[in-house]
Amino acid sequence: MLPLRTENLHAALAATLEEIPHSGLFLLTDSNVATHVLPKILNVLTDKEEARIIEIPAGEDNKNLDTLTRVWGSLSEGGATRNSLLINLGGGVVTDLGGFAAASFKRGIRFVNIPTTVLGAVDAAVGGKTGIDFNGLKNEIGAFANAECVIISSEPLATLPREEILSGFGEIVKTAMISSGELYQKVLDDRILSDMNLLQDAMAECVSFKARVTEEDPHESGLRKILNFGHTAGHAFESLMLTRHAPVTHGCAVANGILVARILRHLLLSLPPDQI
Ligand SMILES: NC(=O)c1ccc[n+]([C@@H]2O[C@H](COP(=O)([O-])OP(=O)(O)OC[C@H]3O[C@@H](n4cnc5c(N)ncnc54)[C@H](O)[C@@H]3O)[C@@H](O)[C@H]2O)c1
Ligand SMILES: [Zn+2]
Repeated sequence: MLPLRTENLHAALAATLEEIPHSGLFLLTDSNVATHVLPKILNVLTDKEEARIIEIPAGEDNKNLDTLTRVWGSLSEGGATRNSLLINLGGGVVTDLGGFAAASFKRGIRFVNIPTTVLGAVDAAVGGKTGIDFNGLKNEIGAFANAECVIISSEPLATLPREEILSGFGEIVKTAMISSGELYQKVLDDRILSDMNLLQDAMAECVSFKARVTEEDPHESGLRKILNFGHTAGHAFESLMLTRHAPVTHGCAVANGILVARILRHLLLSLPPDQI
């Protein structure tokens, strides 16, 4: 099972660097996370060893081949070897692109994910799907590759804009709908978006649900497909808005995708609205 560390960010990172043998440390992040989160962990990195920082511009429209090429270039110019370690510090864009950069560089180097968004923590950073958008299509190029470790901490979330918390909540609602009635009741609590403890509690359940499902079906041949609830229409919506240069957040797209799925279920199966 993929080790998930949830304790204090500093302690978890220090222990992770200690446990994973490596020569050469690289850290990928985006421009927003470099401002808001990176300074909080830089001392752990510099205390232990010098990490080469690779910064990419923030946003889904940068999860593309040009950015990936730049990351490969930075790894290569920085002298990365097959024994180097890449830390992906950021939201789903950084962990998706960084995971794929690591999976493909020198046929694969090890990487650690540190999600800094709610969505990243409950979904993108866990489960081994990596990749980039290509040809106007979401996640068109990619690979399954598991992080050595995912460090989940609420510390980075303090600076997350509300829109991004809502985006993560979209995936939490999805998980609640496909998992337990108990989690569903928790997400219906009006206080969940203003009470960090309630949100973290729901996040922890989502992470363990996703870890369980992806462990049982890592390559999505059966059970894992359940995690795609709302994603067919959601990805179409997300891709469309990307081509219009008016991106919507992933969780917002998924929330709309869930609505489409439920309306179709109502229309195709003639189920009454309270049973869809
Ligand atoms: N691999 C998977 O299984 C999987 C699952 C779900 C989603 N995804 C992918 O994840 C991506 C969406 O992830 P996301 O919602 O995290 O988007 P994101 O990575 O673009 O982050 C959202 C925004 O928040 C900023 N940000 C991140 N952390 C911050 C912090 N702590 N403080 C301030 N600002 C911060 C980022 O710079 C960005 O502007 C999509 O590309 C989606 O396809 C992948
Ligand atoms: Zn998703």
